[in-house]
Formats: sequence, structure tokens, C-alpha cells
Amino acid sequence: MEELEKMQQSFAAHFGRAAEYTFFSPGRVNLIGEYTDYNGGHVFPCAISLGTYALAARRSDAKLRLFSVNLPRMGVLEFPVRGLKYNREYSWANYLLGVVRLLEDAGHALTTGFDVQLCGNLPNGAGLSSSASIEVLMAVLLNELCGFGLDRVTLVKLAQRAENEFVGMNCGIMDQFAVGMGKKDCAVFLDCQTLQYRYSHIDLKGASIVIVNTNKRHSLTSSGYNDRRRDCEAALADLQRVRPIQALGELTPAEFDALARHIKSPVGRRRARHAVYENARTIEAVAALEADDVAKFGRLMHDSHVSLRDDYEVSCRELDTLAELAWRQPGVIGARMTGGGFGGCTVNLVENAAIPAFEAALREGYTKAIGYEPSFYVANIADGAGRVK
Ligand code: GLA
Repeated sequence: MEELEKMQQSFAAHFGRAAEYTFFSPGRVNLIGEYTDYNGGHVFPCAISLGTYALAARRSDAKLRLFSVNLPRMGVLEFPVRGLKYNREYSWANYLLGVVRLLEDAGHALTTGFDVQLCGNLPNGAGLSSSASIEVLMAVLLNELCGFGLDRVTLVKLAQRAENEFVGMNCGIMDQFAVGMGKKDCAVFLDCQTLQYRYSHIDLKGASIVIVNTNKRHSLTSSGYNDRRRDCEAALADLQRVRPIQALGELTPAEFDALARHIKSPVGRRRARHAVYENARTIEAVAALEADDVAKFGRLMHDSHVSLRDDYEVSCRELDTLAELAWRQPGVIGARMTGGGFGGCTVNLVENAAIPAFEAALREGYTKAIGYEPSFYVANIADGAGRVK
């Protein structure tokens, strides 16, 4: 593979020796179930073939040396293997350092260092989980090369905690779970409260998953992401005064409607309504897809977008423009924003024969409205992170 050869050459140029190990970690696209993860609801993401490669070699000292082919100007960054602390200036490296630090805190300190080079083909900040991709990549790599013997779900949870506690972004479990546990041609139907999951084979009957990138970068650390989480926690606390629930995901829409007046803030009421209704939609959507009712799945994707736009308020003009253009286009079964929002991508189910016209119409309409072009990727559903032999 030509790509891999180039990565090996780059590794040799930056570290002065050959790489010994290669790992790959995917990104993810969420089909439905947005902002339900930290609300104790269900999600339905899949891992995609775009992702991040890590080339690595063991060192004999206790140094970590890190390089990213995507950000070459930052050069090779050097760190000790213990006692790592977050520093804004380390940029992308924080996601890896967080994993090393959380492993240390869990009693799995590194005894030797590594040279690690990352090379990704996921658009950064596009809502396809570039950060979860590299966190899980590092966790899987170190677990295997250091023989920690941790199971996959433990690594997934550790990667999430690295993002929460080290980087300070209070994400839920969806992204790390999809990246770590994904399976080729399947979406993962995950109950985020219990972490029970099953795989659902994706057969779209002559249609494909098309990801459209607004090319408006989102940064969830500086966006309203953590605010939304706080709104939901406050709404849950209000409801807990009248009903013993652990999470919003335990309520059906009818139960929620009967209780909603107990949520003090009108904004909190809308945030919680999204969480409850989106969870119900996700369960319904998976059942529809498994009964071969792709059209119903598409209608629920539409409703998901509207709720994210109006109740959760995490969409933006760029995402709404793409979704609205898609809804009007023949051969589109469903379209919605995907991931954290505030920019990033939409996910679209499009009949294969209609894809060229879909792309042309969205490119034209979006460029006219927004002033620059979107990008398109037809997603292949891939396996979770692992060693490339
Ligand atoms: C981001 C977070 C996830 C999830 C989504 C919204 O991708 O990392 O945990 O909350 O937003 O569904």
C-alpha cells in the first residue's frame, strides 16, 4: 500500500529508525440517537473506514515522542511517560497524553517509552470523532504493546474519561464506543445507561450512507456542548424531586409530557424533551430498519434534525442548509446533522442512482447560500480499532 509506505518513510525521517507496529482506528458516523448518550438513552452509530493510523516503535528510555503527519509544523513533541498534565499548547497530543495519564492512574504506568506517529484521513473538527479515534487508538496500542490485558469496553471507558477529565470536554460514551467496538457492515445499537449493546446489520436496499461536511469547523470544547449537558442535569434534578429516575432516558415521551411542568426552566424543558423523544425515536428507528422499513428510518432522521435544531439548539445555518437541501432532493431517504453539531457534518441515506444528482444539487445550493463548498464522502462501515498486520 503506497500510503503506508509514505507513512513509514515519514516515521524513519522523524525518529531515525523504522516503525515496528501499525495500528488503525476508525472515525464514526451516528445514524440516529443524538445527544442521548449522556442522558442515559440509546445511540446507533457505526465506525467508518476513514480514521487514523499510528506507527510506533518501543524506546529503551522513559520518553514519549509524538509526531502528527497532519500537523507537521508542530514537529516531534517529547514528554515523560509519567505525571502528564494537560497543556493547551500540546494541541492534538493532549488526547494521547490523557490516555497515558489515565492508564497510570489506573495502575498501568508505562515502564518504557514509545515513538508514535499519527496520520489521519478524517477531516478534523468535522463531527466524525477525530478525537475519539486517536484516544482509542492510543489506548488499544498501549494495551497491546505493554500487555495490560484490559478488555475493550474498559479501554473505551478509559478513553472517554481521558477526554472528560484530562481534556475537559464532558462527552458521553458514544464516540469512543463506536470507534472501539465498531463492526464491519453493522451499526452498534447501544444503551448508554447499561452499556448493553448489539450489532445491527446495515442493508440499505440499494442506498448508501453519504456524509456531507459543512466545512465549518466545530470545536466542542469552546461550543455550548458542556452547557447543554448542564441544562439536562438541572432538568433531571427537577424531575427527580417528583419521580425516582436515574436518567432522562428512562422516560417515555408520554411520561415526560406528564411531568415536564416540574422542570423549572423553559430552556431545560426543551433540552430534556429532545433527550427523551430522541431516545424513543432511536429505538423506533432501529426496529424499523430491522423490519426493512428504510423509509420510516428516514422520516425519523428528519424528526431528529428538527428536534436538534429547535429543542436542543445544536444545529447551525450551515447544517440546516444542507439538511433542507437534502430533504427536497429526489432519492433521499433521510438526512440529519450528525455528531455534536455547531458545524461538522450531515448524514444522508441516498439511493445509489441518485447520488450524483444529490451531490451536484447540494454543492450548488450550499455554495450559493453559504459562500463556500461542502465535501462529500460515501461511508464504508468498518471494524473498530486494532493492529494492522
Ligand atoms: C459528541 C460527543 C458524544 C455525543 C455527541 C452527540 O460527538 O462526543 O458523546 O454526546 O456529541 O450525540
